[in-house]
Amino acid sequence: MEGSANLNVMIKAARMAGRSLVKDFREVENLQVSMKGAGDFVSKADIAAEKIIRDILMEARPNYGWLAEEGGEAEGKDPTRRWIVDPLDGTTNFLHGLPHWAISIALEHKGEIVAGVIYDAAKDEMFMAEKGEGAWLNQSRLRVSARGRMIESLFATGLPFGGRADLPETLQDLARILPGCAGIRRLGAAALDMAYVAAGRYDGFWERGLHPWDLAAGIVIVREAGGFVEPINPQGSALADGEIVASNEAIFEKFSGLVRNS
Ligand code: IPD
Repeated sequence: MEGSANLNVMIKAARMAGRSLVKDFREVENLQVSMKGAGDFVSKADIAAEKIIRDILMEARPNYGWLAEEGGEAEGKDPTRRWIVDPLDGTTNFLHGLPHWAISIALEHKGEIVAGVIYDAAKDEMFMAEKGEGAWLNQSRLRVSARGRMIESLFATGLPFGGRADLPETLQDLARILPGCAGIRRLGAAALDMAYVAAGRYDGFWERGLHPWDLAAGIVIVREAGGFVEPINPQGSALADGEIVASNEAIFEKFSGLVRNS
């Protein structure tokens, strides 16, 4: 795809950070067996990747604002635009040597996500989209699935871990959705869950308790692939609330209705 200057700089930042993370990922296996474990090493890898991304994006667009998992928030001279970055989505997978993690970079303009890149560096899959320009996986155009029957549909979600308060809600979701579908996956990287909906690998995805950087890039990628994305609370905001439901158009009404229990 012929991307804009902004998209190209996002792709470059994702690739450079990906190179650094792939190198660190190879180290993780050795560290697993050490006394100290891989935790410290992974958080250093995460911070290093964010620095690579920030340096590249801020050099290209010094006036834009910044919101990222590790480095917090900074308003830019241009208050209408900001980068929203997760240098390593799927940190737990990375830490356990599971090759399912990604770099997620979004550009927000006046509160709307206008460009997004999700890069699965371990598999060299670059998911990307710009508003009005379609969504792409490497050189191929992306399209959400056409599946219209819930019973044939495969979904993804996240399961709250470590004592999170939203566990009961999620278990109720599962009880409502599982009996009438083809399966629910929990692969542990929300950005990739969204990218996979755009690619038609999943028919839908929902999750609560997320952060804006987990979701931002996926929103434009799913929409540009022809999918629907909404906050779980129809009056809310997906980014601000960290709650999302996304799917192909054919099942959206039924699927979002089940998620919302409406
Ligand atoms: C996590 C992943 C996971 C989701 C968690 C997120 P992180 O992001 O996206 O799939 O269930 O809620 O926090 O911490 O690996 O960037």
